[in-house]
Amino acid sequence: MRHDPATEFPPRVSPGTRRARVRPLALLAAGVLAVSACGTGASPGTDYPTGPITVVVPFAAGGPTDTVTRLVAEPMKATLGQDVVVSNVAGAGGTLAAGQVAAAAADGYTVLMHHIGMSTAPSLYADLGYDPLVDFRTIGLVTEVPMTIIGRPDLEPDTLEELIQYVKDNAATVTYANAGVGAASHLCGLLFMSAIDTQITEVEYEGTGPAMEDLAGSQVDFMCDQTTNTTEQITGGNVKAYAITSPARNDALPDVPTTTEAGLPDLQISVWHGLYVPKDTPDAVVQALTAALKAALTDEDVIAKFAELGTTPVSAEQATPEAHTAKLQSEIELWQTTIEGAGVEPQ
Ligand code: MLT
Repeated sequence: MRHDPATEFPPRVSPGTRRARVRPLALLAAGVLAVSACGTGASPGTDYPTGPITVVVPFAAGGPTDTVTRLVAEPMKATLGQDVVVSNVAGAGGTLAAGQVAAAAADGYTVLMHHIGMSTAPSLYADLGYDPLVDFRTIGLVTEVPMTIIGRPDLEPDTLEELIQYVKDNAATVTYANAGVGAASHLCGLLFMSAIDTQITEVEYEGTGPAMEDLAGSQVDFMCDQTTNTTEQITGGNVKAYAITSPARNDALPDVPTTTEAGLPDLQISVWHGLYVPKDTPDAVVQALTAALKAALTDEDVIAKFAELGTTPVSAEQATPEAHTAKLQSEIELWQTTIEGAGVEPQ
């Protein structure tokens, strides 16, 4: 990737969205999520859970992380015998929610669903306020989702090659939607801009759910987003699809060429997801959540819906704390090298 300190970050504009700064962990503890008090007096241990569990999604409702979380939460309820409530805490590319969950009570009643952003944030934020490897316990991986480069329905280019030329020719005015620094859509945009050596204006949203609405309404030009949010929009003709960021074509989107076929072989991203709890959460609670996750990932409805959205649940071996921690560690190292190599400075 090209290192160009003069143009490390493209300008960003926020259409009425919040650009929250990440606060140190100690400060977050005081203002922690109301949901962290949802322990309902239950003492973590073998009797866990005795009350509702909140799964925090670090992006807006209606987007890909929200979709995956709600699909998995449903069968987890049955295994855990308690309600599993999804709470969207959007802001700062997913780091706001991660900081809040890190500071929540370690009783198993506040769980975080996060994705690849957990591994990129340490390289993108100078003052993250939490350490992904220290301040959490991992429950297990959930799924890996490819991304698609998509455009507003009336965007002139029809192929990725034409899109690249269009972006280069209109760099001063073309707009790219993302879900904030550290989000998968932001990361894909960085790789795209680096690959075509062109800086463009990023429009930041609290998630790609709301960004998709603006894209379909032609308020913004293009974005890169997970198939869990884009498949229905592409097949419904609401947006144009240019390429998918996986080595092979996807059964849910058989007509969409891979980035390699379309001429950008270096643009490969798979957005892995995992569940986390605060670091002092007892073993018995982690085990109960891992068991519920594993059961959810073999649920027939989950498998079928994931397939419709272009993804699959991870294997039973991957839905474990050990595999999840190993993935997190290796991805933090990988993205540190990639982000530093691209000349991107932490903000
Ligand atoms: C979301 O749920 O909105 C997305 O995962 C955001 C992103 O990472 O691009």
